Amino acid sequence: MMLVKLGGSVITDKTKKYIFREKTMRRLAEEIRKSGEKVVVVHGAGSFGHILAKKYRLDKGFIHERQVKGVAVVQRDVKNLNLKVVNCLIDAGMNPVSIPPSSVVECRNKKIEKINLDVFKKYFNLGLTPVTFGDVALDRKLGFCIVSGDLLMLELARVFKPEKAVFVVDVDSVYINGKMVEKVDRKIIQNLERKKTKIPDVTGSMHEKVKIGLEMSKFTKIMIINGNVKGRLGDALKGRKVVGTVVG
Ligand code: IPE
Repeated sequence: MMLVKLGGSVITDKTKKYIFREKTMRRLAEEIRKSGEKVVVVHGAGSFGHILAKKYRLDKGFIHERQVKGVAVVQRDVKNLNLKVVNCLIDAGMNPVSIPPSSVVECRNKKIEKINLDVFKKYFNLGLTPVTFGDVALDRKLGFCIVSGDLLMLELARVFKPEKAVFVVDVDSVYINGKMVEKVDRKIIQNLERKKTKIPDVTGSMHEKVKIGLEMSKFTKIMIINGNVKGRLGDALKGRKVVGTVVG
């Protein structure tokens, strides 16, 4: 099996609230289905999550009762996005099932401490495609926290030991000093720039993704590829050589 993370920057416009990139998502769904691979799909929150999560400072955990509204709204919004993703997967001929982290994950200090992976395994074994996503979840220390799709990928890699895990993003590769790098490992991660951008993102940059990827590389092969280029996800899943960055 393979793990696929569809980044929020690909399936939404991260700068404008609630803009779903339906055409892109439909194409990616087709590419996954046509690959014939069994997958578990994780997707990011994009502008359905980050903008209001930042406004309500949900990444800080519970610090004020005003945030409770934010928890409710962001959980609803990411579920709305998830429904759109699931619709595209069904229309492409797949059999997805949503597994919201808000009900199966508990964190401690922003780290996943408990996750009911049995639910993923059982649906997967029935032939369905589990779909989970970046969400707001319970946190034993902070009350609640943001759980990113990337962290979910790590937990899924631990149990599924997939043949490959593909991170679908909106750039061709990881860049160091403006240069594309085909492979990142522990040694060169220090050189990865931590760019400050205006785009709201409460879960971290490419740097964070590569760090999680390095940890995942104990369990599987990892690739970061550009989902805006037609056919790249499909080719990566089929094992063809594609432009992108290998982590590990
Ligand atoms: C973020 O999830 C979740 C929320 C902001 C609620 P991700 O970190 O996986 O989302 P993207 O891929 O950056 O959009």
